[in-house]
Amino acid sequence: MLIETRVRERIEAGKGITTLVFDAPMEARPGQFVMVWVPGVDEVPMSLSHIGPHAGITVKEVGEATKALSCLRPGDVIGIRGPYGNGWRLSGGRILCVGGGVGMAPIITAVEAAGDPGRVAVAIGARNHGEIIFEERARSVSNDVRITTDDGSYGLKGTVVSLADTMMKEKRYDLVLGCGPEVMNKFLLKACKDNEVPCQLSLERLMKCGAGLCGSCVIDGLRVCADGPVFTGEQVERMAEFGKCKRDDAGLRVKL
Ligand SMILES: Cc1cc2nc3c(=O)[nH]c(=O)nc-3n(C[C@H](O)[C@H](O)[C@H](O)COP(=O)(O)OP(=O)(O)OC[C@H]3O[C@@H](n4cnc5c(N)ncnc54)[C@H](O)[C@@H]3O)c2cc1C
Ligand code: FES
Repeated sequence: MLIETRVRERIEAGKGITTLVFDAPMEARPGQFVMVWVPGVDEVPMSLSHIGPHAGITVKEVGEATKALSCLRPGDVIGIRGPYGNGWRLSGGRILCVGGGVGMAPIITAVEAAGDPGRVAVAIGARNHGEIIFEERARSVSNDVRITTDDGSYGLKGTVVSLADTMMKEKRYDLVLGCGPEVMNKFLLKACKDNEVPCQLSLERLMKCGAGLCGSCVIDGLRVCADGPVFTGEQVERMAEFGKCKRDDAGLRVKL
């Protein structure tokens, strides 16, 4: 069901990255997403970066819909459907959460849900300092938060996957949660295999219905919207299309 709501708060989370908090409440599991309708523009999938009495999303500007979302101001009307998807399945034991760029948007809700600053560690990575998001939020719920940037402008210079690999070698983790660009997920999966730590990765594909009906988000027979967006490492390993291709607006396979 589409809920019409208003933007309650607009926060600049990073360079070209905006958080919109809505008037609507939303109970959801960390890692679930909503379909966000921008009147007159488009409807796009967005992970929930805020769950509870005031739901919220965190948007990176890449095209028309995300630009329109970023331009919204408090009081503006939008529509949301959801929550959709499965979300993370948090196990007991120590968890390493790895967020690349705007992939930190759903990851931060998992870090908060872990509920114990001693059992959850966070690796945050982005292209540069301006694109690092939710560092303070992570530090308030985890005792071990580390940062990387591709250009070295903040934290360690390098990729978030090499940081996660170092962290897995330093300490034993029972689970890794990852969200970021597909190339990040691909190398994170390999690092988790090398360190023998099970992982759950949140994947992205073009979505139209968001509810498991249209087939536009299918990857190797699994619907990212309904069977995911979070898949286990074993599931992802069996996906021949993972890291190689996706479907475009017309449903044709295109190289990543
Ligand atoms: C389950 C799920 C959760 C998502 N959660 C978030 C979120 O929390 N925050 C967020 O900002 N985005 C999120 N996205 C991605 C977001 O839906 C897309 O960025 C958005 O649909 C792009 O719409 P657009 O009209 O702005 O750009 P389009 O016109 O569709 O695309 C513009 C250009 O950007 C490229 N592009 C599209 N998506 C991305 C991307 N993710 N990264 C880099 N380039 C891209 C396109 O290939 C194209 O070249 C999520 C996607 C999925 C499937
Ligand atoms: S977006 Fe329609 S089936 Fe997933």
